[in-house]
Amino acid sequence: MEYLKSNRKKETKCRIREDIYTLLEEFSQKTGKSMNLIINEILEKFLKSDFKKENVDFFFSENPKKVFDNNGVTIFQNDFLKVDLRNYINKIDLVVTSPPYNLSIEYGIFNDNLDYDEYLKFTELWLKKLFLLLKEDGRVCLNIPLDKNKNGQRPVYADIVKIALDIGFKYQSTIVWNEQNISRRTAWGSWLSASAPYVIAPVEMIVLLYKNSWKKKRKGTSTITKKEFIEWTNGVWTFSGESKKKVGHPAPFPIELPRRCIRLFSYKEDLVLDPFLGSGTTAIASFLEGRKIIGVEINPEYVELAIKRLKETVALPLKF
Ligand SMILES: C[S@@+](CC[C@H](N)C(=O)[O-])C[C@H]1O[C@@H](n2cnc3c(N)ncnc32)[C@H](O)[C@@H]1O
Repeated sequence: MEYLKSNRKKETKCRIREDIYTLLEEFSQKTGKSMNLIINEILEKFLKSDFKKENVDFFFSENPKKVFDNNGVTIFQNDFLKVDLRNYINKIDLVVTSPPYNLSIEYGIFNDNLDYDEYLKFTELWLKKLFLLLKEDGRVCLNIPLDKNKNGQRPVYADIVKIALDIGFKYQSTIVWNEQNISRRTAWGSWLSASAPYVIAPVEMIVLLYKNSWKKKRKGTSTITKKEFIEWTNGVWTFSGESKKKVGHPAPFPIELPRRCIRLFSYKEDLVLDPFLGSGTTAIASFLEGRKIIGVEINPEYVELAIKRLKETVALPLKF
């Protein structure tokens, strides 16, 4: 047995450099993990963050269907995972978005009721694509739930942040959006009993991530006031959610959310992206704040709604 072990050691040793072998050996002794296991872990990490050619082909496999292009607002009716946005690689300054929450929301053609592992796989794919499109100092404001309690408790926020970090995103901080949604306070579980009470936080999260450098590389014009800066750099934001009925979309965020993110984290004329545009809230906020915006939405009904809201809100001189 000892003989076999030492032979295997020799084999491994002659395939890798002496100094790396010594490091691996030390690490193995320290952690109690076998050298093979350590090598596998390193490879797995490397492969996860490596954009393999098949991935890149998949990410750009669908022709872009540009349905709106006016005054710096560009909307594509496409699947964000597949739309060919090669022109925008390393071009995006800021992403503001709220992805599908997988809460069985009726989005029409999109299935919002994936098995949780599938949902995380989907999340990994779109985050990888965002990573490709972001500038080196590009930032992401990701509005996601803290947790999920349909079909079992899940720490959605923690899982998504972990996926993003594995891809290579860097973590800045998290804003807690206090939505003051009282209806969520009525699911008590076992009322007045320790049997199985439910604890639910009536908040959503806005995770702040970036690609490589949090400090912006170029100088630009900020549009935030002193009062806003002082108020919004306090990471608990309190304002109400948006009415689904009023907007005509099952999960819109209020314009206050992208407005604050855009003012706080981007310069005038920066390029913003919302890969899950929905009813177009980020596009409206970007236009009003003097930023350029690309929005992608898979559902033609919501694309129509986004364009209608844009026309109504900002009275764009339209050219098709
Ligand atoms: C949470 S909603 C976004 C709502 C948006 N923030 C608003 O204010 O209206 C998510 C949106 O993503 C869209 N969607 C789902 N999968 C998509 C995909 N693969 N590509 C593009 N859009 C997608 C859904 O149709 C839905 O409108």
